Amino acid sequence: MTGAAGFLGSHLVDRLLSDGERVVGIDNLVTGSRANLEASANHPNFTFVEADVSLPWTWAGDFDGPALIMHFASPASPVDYGRDPLGTMAVNALGAMHGVELARAAGARLVFASTSEAYGDPLEHPQPETYWGNVNPIGVRACYDESKRYGEAYVTSAIRQVGIDGRIIRIFNTYGPRMQPDDGRVIPNFCLAALRGEPLTVYGSGAQTRSFCYVSDLIEGIVRLAKADSLAETVINIGNPGEFTINELAQILSEVAGVPLRTVNCELPPDDPTRRRPVIRRAHDLLGWEPKVQLREGLMATLDYFRSVQPQTSLTH
Ligand SMILES: NC(=O)c1ccc[n+]([C@@H]2O[C@H](COP(=O)([O-])OP(=O)(O)OC[C@H]3O[C@@H](n4cnc5c(N)ncnc54)[C@H](O)[C@@H]3O)[C@@H](O)[C@H]2O)c1
Repeated sequence: MTGAAGFLGSHLVDRLLSDGERVVGIDNLVTGSRANLEASANHPNFTFVEADVSLPWTWAGDFDGPALIMHFASPASPVDYGRDPLGTMAVNALGAMHGVELARAAGARLVFASTSEAYGDPLEHPQPETYWGNVNPIGVRACYDESKRYGEAYVTSAIRQVGIDGRIIRIFNTYGPRMQPDDGRVIPNFCLAALRGEPLTVYGSGAQTRSFCYVSDLIEGIVRLAKADSLAETVINIGNPGEFTINELAQILSEVAGVPLRTVNCELPPDDPTRRRPVIRRAHDLLGWEPKVQLREGLMATLDYFRSVQPQTSLTH
């Protein structure tokens, strides 16, 4: 499990251990933290290796080799990948290549964490897996979008050329406990502002839409995709098709936090997609998966988490 100390990686580690699997987690802690692995750190079936997976991998497990490789290492928010565009390209491109090599050598299945950013600023709405995307290859998001697309192309080529069992998951915006408070994504931003009694910062007019998937739903989808014996398709969207404008999200978050709605508007960052919503028919038909957690319920749990890790930001009412 690469990216094991990150938001999604750590939830996956917890889930795989509770399913009885043995897990080797690799992370260089660039955006993740050991605190995310607190629940798993002393588990007898868990080994943690601090390493950069852009560099060649050395197998560190105390068993023969992995049956499953999950490549989740990568900065994931515009703020994080904007700090290190070259490192982001390396982990998604070279990391995917190393993952394929190990999968080939060990006869393991490989799951590559791709993203809805592969669709760029989509001209087709909502986005099915068959849509090729509308990505600016030299824009500020290109290091992330294009390296994920390269990773997808590399894994797909390895499936075709050397016959590995590779699977690609296009993850749409996911939120929940263990997100970094300062990663610049809208839900942590809004949660922290609400908890501090500050106005919520809305980029642009707030009319742009996003779909938000709660982390437990996403993890269930990923595990189903990873464990399915055979799949008719290599690429599967996982996300929540509920679509909200950023203004609607601000309204709902304020209600859930019990604070009056106050917003300030800032300039929209370049290449910010205007609409995002997954078509999840494949996930439904092939994995029997669909999201269950409603936005209000997920926001409540996320607010509780931020309240617990930032106790100084207690509610003002
Ligand atoms: N969270 C989302 O909404 C979302 C959406 C689409 C795709 N994804 C993808 O899911 C994966 C996990 O995202 P996340 O939200 O958990 O982000 P995260 O930043 O919390 O986790 C990423 C982890 O990867 C580690 N990492 C980064 N570069 C590394 C390297 N070179 N070597 C080893 N470890 C490295 C980081 O330290 C971190 O622990 C990423 O590949 C991301 O692109 C996430």
